[in-house]
Amino acid sequence: MTEPLVHPLALIAEVTHRCPLHCVYCSNPLELKNRADELPIDVWSRVFQEAATAGVLQADLTGGEPLARPDIIDLVRAARSAGLYVSLITSGMPLDEARLANLVEAGLDHLQLSFQGAHEETANEISGTKAHAQKLRVLEWLKKVRVAVTLNFVIHRRNIDQLEEMLQLAESSSATRVEFANVQYYGWAFANREHLLPTRAQLDHSLEILKQAEERLRGKIRVEFVVPDYYAKYPKACMGGWGRKLMLITPSGDALPCHAAQIIPNLRFDNVRDHSLRDIWETSDAFQQFRGADWMQEPCKTCDRRTQDFGGCRCQALLLAGDPAATDPVCSLSPNRPKVDTILASLNSSSHLAHPNSSPLLVGAQHAAPHLGNQTTPQEPRPAWLYRPNPA
Ligand code: SF4
Ligand code: FES
Repeated sequence: MTEPLVHPLALIAEVTHRCPLHCVYCSNPLELKNRADELPIDVWSRVFQEAATAGVLQADLTGGEPLARPDIIDLVRAARSAGLYVSLITSGMPLDEARLANLVEAGLDHLQLSFQGAHEETANEISGTKAHAQKLRVLEWLKKVRVAVTLNFVIHRRNIDQLEEMLQLAESSSATRVEFANVQYYGWAFANREHLLPTRAQLDHSLEILKQAEERLRGKIRVEFVVPDYYAKYPKACMGGWGRKLMLITPSGDALPCHAAQIIPNLRFDNVRDHSLRDIWETSDAFQQFRGADWMQEPCKTCDRRTQDFGGCRCQALLLAGDPAATDPVCSLSPNRPKVDTILASLNSSSHLAHPNSSPLLVGAQHAAPHLGNQTTPQEPRPAWLYRPNPA
């Protein structure tokens, strides 16, 4: 399979790794970049110009927390001036009404506000800080400005039973899209996986609720749901296929084909300080490595679905099978699928849920929440989370 190389559709601009939240499923790498490593605005402005020239349509300004950059309004303006559709992926902190108005005035097209749950207690536990009340304030401010709004709920075992309340929150807001994205198990989420994976019963119930909501809200709010990989029969086409649609720039300027690519050994990543975006897209080693189908092993190599899911996720293949070129182990055709089934069997056994700390999935180094006491939920004791720190 060799398809002509087309330009990326979107640029994911991780403008900082700094963040006031400490989410236990953060997709950032375990080794975070400090402020001193961050690209200055003149380099980002050039990158946005190059992206637009190369045919990119959209810039997703994300992090960390992009609002942690004092020059975020200028970054929005630079991306908009380049002709890109500008989306801000944010926790809503630190933000006030005047700063939001300035962002919109600078050309912000879309804002995606993340929630860690529908209840303050759960949200604070998952984010390791007190952020929920601020998010509710941001929802009110968003009603007064002209910007497209998406609410994003990252779903896992601790909050999947709050879907009805999450939907109510979305319905009371100005959002036209709500995304229920099950945790993807890389980075911090992989380290906390044992406590995040939903049970089969929870998943089945959530699918019923979301199907009904999709029908009921049709034409008003688009309801999107990303199923947890581990329960799927076939894997997702991660990033729409390696080096096919998306390009991610880290805070220090490395260009990556996906969020977690830097965990893959022996991949060389070019930096936007030294190379143009087009050069990186067309020639960099990292983008070439798993593009197309030449790298595939069996069963992907001869599978009819290889042009739909592109063999799944390379990072997941590394984490679960130890080989980034292997068929994604969540695929039912993968010889490594039994590893995933063992994880799910352990999780879904009642003894595991009654005694969560007895599971063989328990991760290694863990430390306590930076700001919160040891609250518990009614269904399970509060786990010993590994919280993401805030880099200097
Ligand atoms: Fe996809 Fe490979 Fe599984 Fe086929 S074998 S469904 S291409 S991951
Ligand atoms: Fe890296 Fe899926 S996260 S390929």
